[in-house]
Amino acid sequence: MSTDGPSSTGSLPSETVTVALGERAYDIVVGAGLLDEAGARLVSLIGTRPVLVISDETVAGLYLVRLTDALKRAGIAHQEITVPPGEATKSFASFGRLAEEALKRGVERGTVIVALGGGVVGDLAGFLAATLLRGLDFVQIPTTLLAQVDSSVGGKTGINTGVGKNLVGAFHQPRLVLADIATLDTLDARELRAGYAETVKYGLIDDPAFYDWCEENAGALIAGDHAARQYAVVTACRAKARIVAEDEREAGARALLNLGHTFGHALEAATGYSDALLHGESVAIGIAMAFDLSASLGLCPPEDAARVRRHFAAHDLPSGLDAKIFSGRRPSSSDLIELMAADKKVKDGRIRFVLARGIGQAFIADDVALEAVRDLLDRAAAA
Ligand SMILES: NC(=O)c1ccc[n+]([C@@H]2O[C@H](COP(=O)([O-])OP(=O)(O)OC[C@H]3O[C@@H](n4cnc5c(N)ncnc54)[C@H](O)[C@@H]3O)[C@@H](O)[C@H]2O)c1
Repeated sequence: MSTDGPSSTGSLPSETVTVALGERAYDIVVGAGLLDEAGARLVSLIGTRPVLVISDETVAGLYLVRLTDALKRAGIAHQEITVPPGEATKSFASFGRLAEEALKRGVERGTVIVALGGGVVGDLAGFLAATLLRGLDFVQIPTTLLAQVDSSVGGKTGINTGVGKNLVGAFHQPRLVLADIATLDTLDARELRAGYAETVKYGLIDDPAFYDWCEENAGALIAGDHAARQYAVVTACRAKARIVAEDEREAGARALLNLGHTFGHALEAATGYSDALLHGESVAIGIAMAFDLSASLGLCPPEDAARVRRHFAAHDLPSGLDAKIFSGRRPSSSDLIELMAADKKVKDGRIRFVLARGIGQAFIADDVALEAVRDLLDRAAAA
């Protein structure tokens, strides 16, 4: 990691984390005000090749002009396409429309796709870059906490299908990630908290000191403190960069990043990928349940599981199967196990989970018996 010197508008110096992937290595730059530096930073990387910016309508209304002004100042020709905000945009239909529109606009092999937005825009625009003309260069400018700490880094791109989330996609690493933490100032508090669940996850996986920091500083981070936000984004990106460099295609250690996701994806499916439960909220419940399962299997001290639950409750993150989330129609343990099976994590009556021996000690368990999961879900539903 290196410090670049003060960014043009922020008082904190921006910081750079490198994802060490040989020829495909790239930098993640984190700081306040980076949007205004995007043109200059792109020129030094890819010259003045034309840019196609993909954003959603909400983010475009807030930040597109600042980005395009920065591109203009750097002499970069650019076009923009905006898509409706929300998870429904990560669909075959909107991908098809986007690809046709991009081709009509005259995209060529040298065009650089720039994703300006949250994880939805990043995953969709990344998949467009991976597939259009068999692969275009791609830059991520993430504007949600979730996208800054997780989805913009690591090259997973894709769209959802009727069968499940992210089931059509490609690995396609970006050439650069610019995480302007000042853009988080306009993010809805609920979205910010959901992104915080993916942030604290890194402490719970293998960095107990970062978890301690989170307990101390989550309040400031959520309230808007730029120094706390920058520290958290840099720490998360450093962890993700290390894991991705070790295991780009998720043959091993990268699966640790799925802490909370076995339960989480089933809960998202059970709520129809609706606003009833945001992705990060489902991950928060999933993390709490993964710690409870670890404790009930005698793998993790129950105090650690309780500590995680207390931390989530202190910051208004869900950690249980509250009937309110499901509008009174709480799924049964069998429903949820079936959804986990559809998510391809069940094999021979056993489910793949990320469990923990304690805070900061996550591990991959391929052999969790369905009965233990069923018991836990039944107890959670009765709570
Ligand atoms: N590729 C990966 O590795 C990876 C990892 C984790 C999650 N994901 C995916 O990420 C997606 C979720 O991403 P998300 O949580 O960023 O959701 P999102 O992209 O839907 O953004 C959430 C909402 O915030 C708005 N928004 C974005 N930035 C804003 C800003 N700065 N100010 C005001 N509003 C803003 C958006 O318009 C949207 O309405 C899911 O589809 C998930 O599957 C991908």
